[in-house]
Amino acid sequence: MTDAELRNMVSKTLTCRIDKRENCGEKMEQFLKRCFYHSGQYDSKEDFVELDKKLKELEAGRVSNRLFYLSIPPNIFIDAVRCASVSASSANGWTRVIVEKPFGRDSESSAALTRSLKQYLQEDQIFRIDHYLGKELVENLSVLRFSNLIFEPLWSRQYIRNVQFIFSEDFGTEGRGGYFDNYGIIRDIMQNHLLQILALFAMETPVSLDAEDIRNEKVKVLRSMRTLSMDDVVIGQYKSHTKGGITYPAYTDDKTVPKDSLTPTFAGAALFIDNARWDGVPFLMKAGKALHDRRAEIRVQFRHVPGNLYNRNFGTDLDRATNELVIRVQPDEAIYLKINNKVPGLGMRLDRSNLNLLYKARYSKEIPDAYERLLLDAIEGERRLFIRSDELDAAWALFTPLLKELEDKRLIPEYYPYGSRGPVGAHYLAAKHNVKWGDLGVDE
Ligand code: BG6
Repeated sequence: MTDAELRNMVSKTLTCRIDKRENCGEKMEQFLKRCFYHSGQYDSKEDFVELDKKLKELEAGRVSNRLFYLSIPPNIFIDAVRCASVSASSANGWTRVIVEKPFGRDSESSAALTRSLKQYLQEDQIFRIDHYLGKELVENLSVLRFSNLIFEPLWSRQYIRNVQFIFSEDFGTEGRGGYFDNYGIIRDIMQNHLLQILALFAMETPVSLDAEDIRNEKVKVLRSMRTLSMDDVVIGQYKSHTKGGITYPAYTDDKTVPKDSLTPTFAGAALFIDNARWDGVPFLMKAGKALHDRRAEIRVQFRHVPGNLYNRNFGTDLDRATNELVIRVQPDEAIYLKINNKVPGLGMRLDRSNLNLLYKARYSKEIPDAYERLLLDAIEGERRLFIRSDELDAAWALFTPLLKELEDKRLIPEYYPYGSRGPVGAHYLAAKHNVKWGDLGVDE
């Protein structure tokens, strides 16, 4: 690519969120002028020496920092880090490296990756990205909990019946099969994105908003969790489905996926935190590709009102009478609380209504992309939203035995049609813990 081609590519998606959009054109122009393309091999020291030379010319003696963003396949992480740190570190400012998941495939490979990275970098130079932590509503989770009196007192086993973390996509792994088949949905979504949200959701109040204080609490909660067992997990894989004359492919129809692949594209799991706050509360997760809709949300189902005077008004479905707090991360960011309310009129009819904070109705501002926030944080050295290595170890420790068992025993996933609501097994899993998935109700 030439510099001009790169700039052209960047300009197509460049957004302007500065100065109330004043002088946007000019600012973008200035920014683009400072974008350069340099090609080289990831494992070639000489190529990085060249890069260093070129950077030095552009830096022209100023104090300059360097941020390497490794959005590259994991098998070349270490080569690139070695070359960058040895041959292209900043001489007079900081040098940082952003690493994208997958951070290994299990506890051992993750630890090996961390060891290798630390040969060349200090922990405070490494920024492990989990882009879900950069999403607006995930950022807001702590604000909601810790700056509103009404939530935190309820945030425990005493009032909360179960918590659900739901991720679904209405498209398959088309085009990414090569990567995906080696990892599967548990590693792709659960062990990181959903578990990170869970940790933020369930952690104790941190001493302060400092990165280390927050991450200490997250590690504590992860370490209080029970290792996942196969009894509390269901796996699925999507199969081909024809609807309205269109045939949607099976996972294994992807040319980069082996025909006999058993890699899960869907998983449901029940997790438990064995600490005083959460003892016995099921934390349910489900994540899947090629489902009927695209969403990511947290659902908090509260206990029944004891001796509810109005039970009769709800008929036999007591679940309808409980409160549910939904934090919809995407699409259409929202926080809503389902409450019981009297239908206006002379009779006494109750229904469920939502106290609804729909972001697009409340805020006119565009919500920045998760990566915008995270890249800015890395530049500013703010580590709050990045994963520390002990956090990563704790996260892998929870999932590694299960993943090994799945692969050693070659357990067969339950097949579900492309575009469906996923395998029935997910309902049984929830039912086993006396839970109903909140996203399947009539009034989601
Ligand atoms: C990535 C996963 O981390 O997150 C993908 O590897 C997934 O499989 C993606 O599609 C979802 O991110 P978002 O921000 O589009 O919800």
